[in-house]
Amino acid sequence: MAVECINHEYYLRFSDRILALIRKVFHNYPEFRHDSFKHVARLAPFIPFMGGRPDLRKPLKRVITFSDHSNSLYFGCPIILAAGANKTAERICDYANVGFGGITVGTATRNFREGNTHKPRIGFLEKERAIHNSMGLNNEGVEVIARRVDKQLVKAHKAGLCVGISVAETPGLTDPEEKLKDIIESFSIAYKAADYIEINVSCPNTGESRVDLDMSFSERIFTEIMRFRNTLGLRKAVYAKLSPDLSERHLIAIMEMLVRTGVNGVVVGNTYPTAKISELPVSTKYDELRPLRDDGDCGGMSGRPLYENMVWNVQYIHEHYPQMSIIACGGIDHGYKVYDLIKMGVDAVQCYSVVAFRWMAAHAMRNELMDAMLNDGYKSLGEYDDRNPKK
Ligand SMILES: Cc1cc2nc3c(=O)[nH]c(=O)nc-3n(C[C@H](O)[C@H](O)[C@H](O)COP(=O)(O)O)c2cc1C
Repeated sequence: MAVECINHEYYLRFSDRILALIRKVFHNYPEFRHDSFKHVARLAPFIPFMGGRPDLRKPLKRVITFSDHSNSLYFGCPIILAAGANKTAERICDYANVGFGGITVGTATRNFREGNTHKPRIGFLEKERAIHNSMGLNNEGVEVIARRVDKQLVKAHKAGLCVGISVAETPGLTDPEEKLKDIIESFSIAYKAADYIEINVSCPNTGESRVDLDMSFSERIFTEIMRFRNTLGLRKAVYAKLSPDLSERHLIAIMEMLVRTGVNGVVVGNTYPTAKISELPVSTKYDELRPLRDDGDCGGMSGRPLYENMVWNVQYIHEHYPQMSIIACGGIDHGYKVYDLIKMGVDAVQCYSVVAFRWMAAHAMRNELMDAMLNDGYKSLGEYDDRNPKK
């Protein structure tokens, strides 16, 4: 089905203006502003107008099935909180209060990482509704994160959340064998705990070369990961998180490799390397941005300006690799966009930046998604799927 790419605009409600005011008051403390979302999620059921309890109504439930008989994934709704927003895996169920139907925690590396030491590591582009960040994969290590997920998983399922863990290789390792061992260990630890695993091969802000830029090593990683997974009794889904800045040739090479190795799906995509900001529809220039790393770099760009490019990638992948499950991510801030993307063939969406700009973003997007579906004559996503079966 040909679907037009519209970067649907949401109008700013009173509550969104309050959020803008909070951003203004704390503009010198962007990391604090950013981290405060977890408190919002925790308090949501107790404070009026903050969202409330998890919304478990059936119309938005989403099930992802896989042709290789990997375990199906059950989401309370197709809107997932993207990796990076909950790096610790603490209080996972709180995110159902603010409307999400799934969450990817992490990214986790094999051991604790402080991340980049330069502060702040986050900047906001107010006008563009974008965030640039260079956190540098700060996390407590995959063992701690997986243990927390394990403890909370049953409760999370009851709250309508499907839980994934994002893992990445430890930046800075130089010996290829050591690198491979490192990522396989992280994968196997995360695999025991989560519903699905995301392999983050596209983080632009650790100061190290991205794994997805080395095709032969990427192939070794995914071959080993999938070989290892296939020896296990339980087949959980494995997604690769791609960079949004790939050339068509590079995208084809990666997709061919992922199909060869049997990876279930792709998350499209990560933050956009800020050094290439001129490729995005933003008026801000690279030199105007505050450096977020000691080496003067500004990391990766997220938010609204990523949308059109992301849609191009999604359409390309769906057209050429229809067997791949696609989770769209990048600038998704409106429920109409979620509906458009579902019509384009994605299984679910992830979002992150929007929570900084829209009050109770996931709840608002759920309502808009419902509205868009009803306008087209569907009472539920299940009914949409029945009437539009995947080929
Ligand atoms: C502050 C910040 C931290 C992030 N950390 C991670 C991370 O640890 N792992 C990852 O895969 N993506 C990370 N991302 C990328 C997001 O998951 C997402 O791919 C990207 O922001 C695009 O989505 P959005 O436009 O909805 O924000 C981070 C993004 C931001 C803004």
